[in-house]
Amino acid sequence: MIKVIVCENYEEISKKSAEIVAKQINEKADSILGLATGSTPVGMYKELIEMNKSGKLDFSKVGSFNLDEYYPIKHSDDQSYYYFMNDNLFAHINIDIANTNIPNGEAEDADAECERYEKLIDESAGIDLQILGIGHNGHIGFNEPDEKLITKTHLTALTEDTIMANSRFFASADEVPTAAITMGMETIMKAKKIILLASGKNKSDAVSMLTDNYIDTSCPATLLKLHPDVTLICDKDAFLK
Ligand code: F6R
Repeated sequence: MIKVIVCENYEEISKKSAEIVAKQINEKADSILGLATGSTPVGMYKELIEMNKSGKLDFSKVGSFNLDEYYPIKHSDDQSYYYFMNDNLFAHINIDIANTNIPNGEAEDADAECERYEKLIDESAGIDLQILGIGHNGHIGFNEPDEKLITKTHLTALTEDTIMANSRFFASADEVPTAAITMGMETIMKAKKIILLASGKNKSDAVSMLTDNYIDTSCPATLLKLHPDVTLICDKDAFLK
């Protein structure tokens, strides 16, 4: 069953989730984090930056694996998740960049890159804490709603829904990449602990499917019900339909 923490607002989600990440790192200095991009975790990253700057949190031994990256995309593209992570977190904390991992949007062979990334996660000590956002269509990473979901890291086409949702970051919908490399469902489920953040009314349909007794591949996040340690941290807008 997914544990639920309902917060008053986005600010509270950011603080609560940052506290959980900080506790993880304070208990295990060389924790491996699974990281998400998108607008939801930005407030949490700001809180973590503050903790690091004020000397309360040390990232020097922390490792990380990001969930996904557009494909193909240059690291220097300001819409790449490579750029996002540097801009929103890595450049502002004392993490060793050599210990951070993001699927390579510049790889020549996407399938080989997916294989490399999955292997890298397998050969690591494993993700201690995975941070997830959720698409309004229920996707996690870029595991889009479908009859069948893919287990391992793979190249995927983005749905029209996701392209429209992400077009808010681009000049127009035409500029949104149509494919991405994403961790698969099993890759995500292998994490020891997961927190899923959701904010705003447009997430309430997807969030409402997380609290009943069903698993449905048309809302990939419902598979998280099979994981022993998942906490949904959402605000009232996302929780109440
Ligand atoms: C991002 C990711 C996506 C987002 C989701 C929600 O790395 O994997 O699943 O978490 O699309 O995005 P926001 O937070 O922008 O609503």
